[in-house]
Amino acid sequence: MSLDNYEQFTRFFHERSGIDLSCYKRAQMQRRIEQFITNKGFQDYLAFKDSLNSNPELLAAFLRHLTINVSQFFRDMGQWEILRASILPMLLAGRSSLKLWSAGSSGGQEAYTLAIILQETFPLVPYSILGTDIDDAMLAQARHGVYKTQDLVGAPPHILDNYFNPTGDGLQVKERLKSNVHFQKRNLLTGIFDTGYDLICCRNVVIYFTEEAKNSLYCRFSKSLRPGGVLFTGSTEQIFNLTELGLKPLAPFFYQKIPC
Ligand SMILES: C[S@@+](CC[C@H](N)C(=O)[O-])C[C@H]1O[C@@H](n2cnc3c(N)ncnc32)[C@H](O)[C@@H]1O
Repeated sequence: MSLDNYEQFTRFFHERSGIDLSCYKRAQMQRRIEQFITNKGFQDYLAFKDSLNSNPELLAAFLRHLTINVSQFFRDMGQWEILRASILPMLLAGRSSLKLWSAGSSGGQEAYTLAIILQETFPLVPYSILGTDIDDAMLAQARHGVYKTQDLVGAPPHILDNYFNPTGDGLQVKERLKSNVHFQKRNLLTGIFDTGYDLICCRNVVIYFTEEAKNSLYCRFSKSLRPGGVLFTGSTEQIFNLTELGLKPLAPFFYQKIPC
């Protein structure tokens, strides 16, 4: 078994999928990839690469394995409470609507959590939420909006009644919530983003990015926020070079674009 063509494989994979694995921390990525290759019974990168080329299902399964897409409704409840009680009222001062982005939205749990909080707290404020992810399977789940009952454990009963319909296999997000939330495929490692966001949530996505890739992303997020807009990160994702990025801390894991 020879697994020593990692760089060659990452070049092939970049061309094939548009995902540049060199932007992810090498040790973790390589371990994950080699675990997949071994589990699928391939002898080396070369044999795996040939199969990926001819087998779209294998490619989809590999992508699913790489994009660690665990998510949850109301993940880190304390942070959502800070958002609800302090950040959203501040963002709404002098504004009549909100433009929000859940970047790395996985199966949509974060984007819908945001929508529920807005509906519950500011029912009259118009808003639009964009959820983006690199993983087609997760985007399909997000658009479908069906979740297992246990995905919503901990949510107050009135939230379940107001925003979900029971279905055969779980709970489906009601249309009135879905109508403000849209999902699109987007690779956060490339390109420039839309501008004028009041809030960008990017939580538990950059854990495996290299420092360089993370910095480039935060820099593009900062350009995407309107002055005074807020970047909301995951609870292990502190940003240290804030001044360079034109951001300032507001509360733990909330960073504000310095108003001009
Ligand atoms: C652990 S989930 C986080 C989901 C949600 N933000 C949360 O905190 O519950 C990470 C998500 O980031 C996505 N992701 C990873 N690399 C990405 C990239 N380069 N561009 C866009 N999404 C990416 C994965 O597909 C996955 O769905």
